[in-house]
Amino acid sequence: MTSLFASYRRGSLRLPNRVVMAPMSRVRATVDGLPTASMATYYAQRATAGLIVSEGVYPSLQGKSNPGGPGLHTDAQVVAWRPVTDAVHANGGRIFAQLMHAGRVGHPDVAGYQPVGPSAVAMRAEVFTGAEGLQPAPVPRALELAEIPGEAKVYADAARRAIDAGFDGVELHGANGYLISQFLSTGANQRTDAYGGSITGRIRFAVEAAAATADAIGADRVGIRLSPGGTVWDTVEEEVPELYGALFTELARLDLAYVHVLAGAAEDLLVALRKTWPNTFILNPGGQIAPTPTDRADGEHWLAQGADLIGYGRAYLANPDLVERLRTGLPLRESDKDTWYQGGDTGYLDYPSHQY
Ligand SMILES: Cc1cc2nc3c(=O)[nH]c(=O)nc-3n(C[C@H](O)[C@H](O)[C@H](O)COP(=O)(O)O)c2cc1C
Repeated sequence: MTSLFASYRRGSLRLPNRVVMAPMSRVRATVDGLPTASMATYYAQRATAGLIVSEGVYPSLQGKSNPGGPGLHTDAQVVAWRPVTDAVHANGGRIFAQLMHAGRVGHPDVAGYQPVGPSAVAMRAEVFTGAEGLQPAPVPRALELAEIPGEAKVYADAARRAIDAGFDGVELHGANGYLISQFLSTGANQRTDAYGGSITGRIRFAVEAAAATADAIGADRVGIRLSPGGTVWDTVEEEVPELYGALFTELARLDLAYVHVLAGAAEDLLVALRKTWPNTFILNPGGQIAPTPTDRADGEHWLAQGADLIGYGRAYLANPDLVERLRTGLPLRESDKDTWYQGGDTGYLDYPSHQY
């Protein structure tokens, strides 16, 4: 059986092990979306991961979801990311930027813009808006048909900036109810034009965003995260096997570096999708934040089911030396939920590595 600790080589991915740090928003950037020195330390502490996927990064101000999130749409942000990517590389690691466009999971108090989405349908949830706390998600402005190719290009422009900032590649956030996922959803997407209705219509934006990004920086530096059957942020998906079957077929034509799939849908569907995917398949067993974080047994289970790499979220947050702990069977610390999004270095830089 493939081991979590075996090296991995495919296309531009040359990884010393199969353990991926899953993207986790930690909202510790400046108000202008600039990464900080603490963020460089945090990621550098975790550089023994086979691959790090950064927290969600907004590719345009319109696409900003969280106060405290970092961006990749200004020159100043590119400059400020450099010490982060340099610190990871100096410690022998590799890091992709997760490009996360909020779509309707946003608020004018955060981005300064009314959120946009496929349709003017508000998410039935509250969003964190900073000083004013939780507020009901606003009704987004439905994107005009003519605007949509430009919104797909937003990912490509941010991807160019990511490469300029020293990232090894980008992951499009197509999961968990953010913009790409909103287009896949029959709840958020009630369009009757070429970007809605049929499965072909609902997958069109995802495919165009991925194609534009692959054109910009090369397909072998582009991955995409997807959550088949997911329900996070009021996502409603129908015809899940057909929807994702069609999406995987179109994405495979683009020869992207990887798909990063969140477990959630039935295991046999995920295994079937694996079989149709020709390139690297990353599986995050914790999916929609399962009651317990992904552990070594979960990872080994999914490697046996055909996954190439395993995404670890909360376990990585709390264990900077996760690879070593998994390898040697050392106990895993639990993450402190109160400090996930609190800001500051507490619960961020102070999770220790194991001392022998
Ligand atoms: C604090 C926190 C922030 C997260 N932020 C993101 C994010 O920015 N993008 C994303 O795709 N997933 C995000 N997730 C989901 C994780 O990547 C992962 O899918 C989830 O934690 C389940 O995996 P686990 O059991 O290994 O923790 C976040 C999870 C946590 C705990």
